[in-house]
Amino acid sequence: MEEVMKKNRTVSAEEMERQKEYIARILAENERYLAENGSRPRAFVLTLGCQQNEADSERLAGMAVAMGYEMTDTPEEARLIMVNTCAIREHAEQRALSLVGQYKHLKAKNSELIIVICGCMVVQEHRINDIKFKYPYVDILFGTSSIHRFPEFLYEKQRRGRRILRSDETEYLVAEGIPVHRESSFRAWVSVMYGCNNFCSYCIVPYVRGRERSRRRDEIVAEVRTLVAEGYRDITLLGQNVNSYGKDTGENCDFADLLAELDKIEGDYWIHFMTSHPKDASRKLIDVMAGSKHMARHFHLPMQSGSDRVLRAMNRRYDFEKYIGIVDYIREKMPDAVITSDIIVGFPQETEENFEATLTALGRARFDMIYSFIYSPRKGTPAAEMEGQIPAAEKSRRFERLLAVQNEISLGANQPMVGKTIRVLCDGISKNNKLVYSGRSEGGKIVFFEGEPSDTGNFLAVTIERAEPFALYGTVNR
Ligand code: 5AD
Ligand code: SF4
Repeated sequence: MEEVMKKNRTVSAEEMERQKEYIARILAENERYLAENGSRPRAFVLTLGCQQNEADSERLAGMAVAMGYEMTDTPEEARLIMVNTCAIREHAEQRALSLVGQYKHLKAKNSELIIVICGCMVVQEHRINDIKFKYPYVDILFGTSSIHRFPEFLYEKQRRGRRILRSDETEYLVAEGIPVHRESSFRAWVSVMYGCNNFCSYCIVPYVRGRERSRRRDEIVAEVRTLVAEGYRDITLLGQNVNSYGKDTGENCDFADLLAELDKIEGDYWIHFMTSHPKDASRKLIDVMAGSKHMARHFHLPMQSGSDRVLRAMNRRYDFEKYIGIVDYIREKMPDAVITSDIIVGFPQETEENFEATLTALGRARFDMIYSFIYSPRKGTPAAEMEGQIPAAEKSRRFERLLAVQNEISLGANQPMVGKTIRVLCDGISKNNKLVYSGRSEGGKIVFFEGEPSDTGNFLAVTIERAEPFALYGTVNR
């Protein structure tokens, strides 16, 4: 049984070998380029969307580096541009299209440039047509299920010159062994499962990332062990719904079991994970976290709405009572746990009263932070077809009210941190204010402090002196 499962869910070793051959062929070409030009051809990858996409982009970059490219942050100097798109909201799609639009002039200047578009947006038929007809200078398009075949597509494009627009991949599998080029030397993403079976009525993800499939436990354990040995300090396990981990592997290892296994790896590191679906966030999982050494006391648990009627219409399969029961249990077991959430405002037919139920729920749940979103209709999802779509102005008004309520709560959650000394993983000089360093607490809160170059990538003890809704300020104990 297990053999059958493995065979069905994982891209075959032969297929991965085939891709390695394409990698070797392109590498040989790029070595010739290096000999002639004195430098490697450059590759640029632009990522939109969630952490899963960031993880995928590190695979795209990994393949590019294996093929002899050197990564660059400057699209102008690239011979290979990859745009990894997102489909979760209209705004993300418009950004991807506008960025791809900006690359048209680069192609006009450099006919050798190859432009690749991939990711969630271009799994959708209407977007494939957009690219096909309105963006003729895009050379290669492929969906989320074909990422491991990127070397083959690139080779075929270079050899035959024809555009490659792949839309016919219907089977979603796990691909092991794709090279990874990680952005950071101390924070890493590790996908544990892909896809989603939940079909929340607003969400495009199940349509663009396929059904749930999990990586095998040993693959994950080996990857995390290597990362810890390489000095990674913060490892985030990724999946659209990590609580479903292991349902398809036949290994009798659920997500809590996986965490318990990972926790045995010796070293000084944190493990984070996202995202959990409240409908199956188990007590067992919370118990394992509470008893673990390396699991960060941080729970991201999207609530989406505080109204039972809206939750039903969203097909979330829990009500507020069940939701808050999980929150209470987390706090009972881990009183200092940081709990964050996602909220959507302006779902079709959301009444003023329903919206106020969400505000009340925020007051009860007292999240440390929320990611709030204005509902964006996605073509092909049930909610997009529902009557009673909320006008944009009303959605924005609710959004502003939501933020104001949560700001107060976040500030209230951060203030008790003042005077405490906490562990912070330093990210280096802050991107927005070059005078200070920034890092993140175990719960993922942003902390600013005066740092030193050698702090980057290390754990520091920081005494908090000031709190704002979205940040803490403190001094490093040296
Ligand atoms: N409109 C607005 N927000 C959405 N999300 C998912 N789909 C939509 C949509 N159509 C939000 C949910 C999810 C987060 C990743 O994005 O809150 O948890
Ligand atoms: Fe989308 Fe719901 Fe799946 Fe999350 S659980 S990816 S919101 S369908």
